[in-house]
Amino acid sequence: MSRTKKTSKSKNPAKTGAVETKVPPVTGKMIPIFVMGKKYEVPETLTIMKAMEYAGFKFIRGCGCRGGICGACATVYRKAGDYKLYTGLACQTVVEPNMYLAQIPFYPANRAAYNFHQLEPNPEQIFKLYPELFRCIACNACTKVCPMDVQVMDMISALKQGNIAKAAILSFSCIQCDLCASRCMGELPQSHIAQLARRIYGAKIAPRAEHLNEAVMATREGKYEECLHTLMGMGEEELRKLYQEREIESEIADEDWVPIDTKYV
Ligand code: FES
Repeated sequence: MSRTKKTSKSKNPAKTGAVETKVPPVTGKMIPIFVMGKKYEVPETLTIMKAMEYAGFKFIRGCGCRGGICGACATVYRKAGDYKLYTGLACQTVVEPNMYLAQIPFYPANRAAYNFHQLEPNPEQIFKLYPELFRCIACNACTKVCPMDVQVMDMISALKQGNIAKAAILSFSCIQCDLCASRCMGELPQSHIAQLARRIYGAKIAPRAEHLNEAVMATREGKYEECLHTLMGMGEEELRKLYQEREIESEIADEDWVPIDTKYV
């Protein structure tokens, strides 16, 4: 993240409505926020990320999906008159008056090196790669800061008990922002440990998906060749039309929903 140099206030894209801007139109009240100790006035409706861009900051790192998925925008903040440190994702958290903000675009948590193909699906492998796992003192600070509501401490406990499957399932929503690691007294790299558990579970423990096997076999046997050739012969306009007019599963469809055309199902 760097701060772009503003030559004049009128150059702020949020104020000029320039095409490039991602910041919504300024319609609401302006509120003060503090970024790394400096005060800025920003529209109250913005997320932290957009407010910082409005203030002239430019995200080169520490910003990815802008949709709460990639975990790149971990933020720590405090509110005026409140001793407590709060955490959140800059792209998802809306600013509040007198927020004191700091971005954590990257946290240098330990990530073990391993050859995944040589790993056995047993907990000892994880213990060997991440012996710090047993430094967990069960303070639960990790769970409290998680912006995705992952039960981080429970995930670590499951691994200590040798339950890789439970750890993988508990950490399914982890986006690896590493806020947990930033608060951990035991200095655990929870997100990397959980990622390893999910990898082992997905590749070496979970039962194979039969429908996936069937789909792979059908692909190998050429079931989709004709369709692919037809698509490849189409122009852009025709492809767009086909895409826009495709049959879409309704959000309230039943489990057993199938499209009208089942040629490729
Ligand atoms: S930018 Fe991806 S989670 Fe915020």
